[in-house]
Amino acid sequence: MDIGFSTPGAIGPGALVVGIQDGGVLSETAERADKASGGAIKRALSFSRFNGQAGQTLDIVAPAGVKASRFILAGLGKADGFDAAAAERLAATVLGRLLLSGEQTLTFAIDPPKKGKIGGSDLAAHLALGATLRSYRFDHYRKVKDDETPTVKKVIIATADVSAAKRAWAGMAALGEGIFLARDLVNEPANVLYPDQFAKRMQSLKKLGVKVEIFDVPAMRKLGMNALLGVGQGSAHESRMVVMSWNGGKTKDAPLAFIGKGVCFDSGGLSLKPANSMMGMKGDMGGAAAVAGLMHALAKRKARVNAVGLIGLVENMPDGKAQRPNDIVRTMSGQTIEILNTDAEGRLVLADVLWYAQGRFRPRFMVNLATLTGAILVALGAEHAGLFSNSDELAERLTKSGLVESEPVWRLPLGDGYDRLVKSKIADMKNIGGPNAGSITAAQILQRFVNKVPWAHLDIAGVAWQDGEQKPLAPSWGTGWGVRVLNRLVADYYES
Ligand code: BES
Ligand code: MN
Ligand code: ZN
Repeated sequence: MDIGFSTPGAIGPGALVVGIQDGGVLSETAERADKASGGAIKRALSFSRFNGQAGQTLDIVAPAGVKASRFILAGLGKADGFDAAAAERLAATVLGRLLLSGEQTLTFAIDPPKKGKIGGSDLAAHLALGATLRSYRFDHYRKVKDDETPTVKKVIIATADVSAAKRAWAGMAALGEGIFLARDLVNEPANVLYPDQFAKRMQSLKKLGVKVEIFDVPAMRKLGMNALLGVGQGSAHESRMVVMSWNGGKTKDAPLAFIGKGVCFDSGGLSLKPANSMMGMKGDMGGAAAVAGLMHALAKRKARVNAVGLIGLVENMPDGKAQRPNDIVRTMSGQTIEILNTDAEGRLVLADVLWYAQGRFRPRFMVNLATLTGAILVALGAEHAGLFSNSDELAERLTKSGLVESEPVWRLPLGDGYDRLVKSKIADMKNIGGPNAGSITAAQILQRFVNKVPWAHLDIAGVAWQDGEQKPLAPSWGTGWGVRVLNRLVADYYES
């Protein structure tokens, strides 16, 4: 699907989307369209419950007297609620409704409400982003019937300053590509996207100027990454670690480090998951996917920052060679972990990758993303990701970034009382806590592998994929969650 910008003009062919304010008040463009069509819009409004609330749309097919094939009235809602997120949702909702309709060209001619919080080129770019994110499909493995094939080929956003809109859009288009990459990776099944294949796909970042290093099993053994390797040792697919570096900042600046859990499939290992809990565990690499998508976005938009992305790629399987409950592994840090449940594997992978990242790069901060615990779903559902941090400043920046980008996070506590729950009698720690506070005890284990560097852990088990109702901006199972909030964090606080 193509995105274009043009100055507002006469009503052309294709579908025209106009805004209607709360209470059914026509925007200027809607008034003009109404006049041109002999009052089609006001007549339609009089026969409908549509009253301009956010989320509402009303189609007028084949209005008389104009070239347009259709008018779509889109509710702008209350003026003070009309912001970037509302604009994205509006564009996404309209595109979702029209994608298979037979229309080929869609023109958004949205006049923002006078007291709205967004307008001009910024509004244009966010409309483009909303439509783009809604246009995502993952159709590689099915025969798409004719009536399921998208017909919309082109989306045009009418805006006064086309070159300003194009500039604003360039960065967001890069972000959109990063999100699509993350979604693709999460949606791919584990028989296709096992660790080596995931690593190979990261090679595509090279053409954007990202340095990509792939570590195989002997290389990781040399480094002493026994916790990560222990998780992968029961799989027929070998483990990998990928280190991606983007150097868009000053040479001497320490990089920002992003670390992702990449469990390509989590069967639980010998502590096997029940059949129903295993469903969806191809997505247990959602953290790694977000890191990959972020690196793509940063490089594509040539972010003026140094950033590294590190992903630990394993498959957690039961087998004669698999790690056992009661095994004790020595991590790269030298600390030992008693394995009590082989299904608590993400923390083992991250323990070694976090340690490696901080030792090699001395980063300004580390943020890791992981589909780490089912307990975070119990606490926060699919509305927020869990945030844990040793830095109030970093936590606050992530919280703000999440709100702006519609990827909200909610901070949960860390503390000595929780840390005590992972003490072991036979090793430095065990890999599970007790029955309670499961997301926190998991985070405590990660924190044991973080030295004095600012660090945040995002538990994205509830948001990396969606089984029920789909979010307007994320029309597939894999959401690509994390690319947006981290891209914003970088842009707002760390780019020079
Ligand atoms: N990948 C899972 C966490 C998960 C659960 C993600 C549900 C998405 C949806 C993780 O590796 C895991 O199995 N965690 C266990 C930890 C337990 C054994 C302490 C869990 O949450 O049950
Ligand atoms: Mn697990
Ligand atoms: Zn897992």
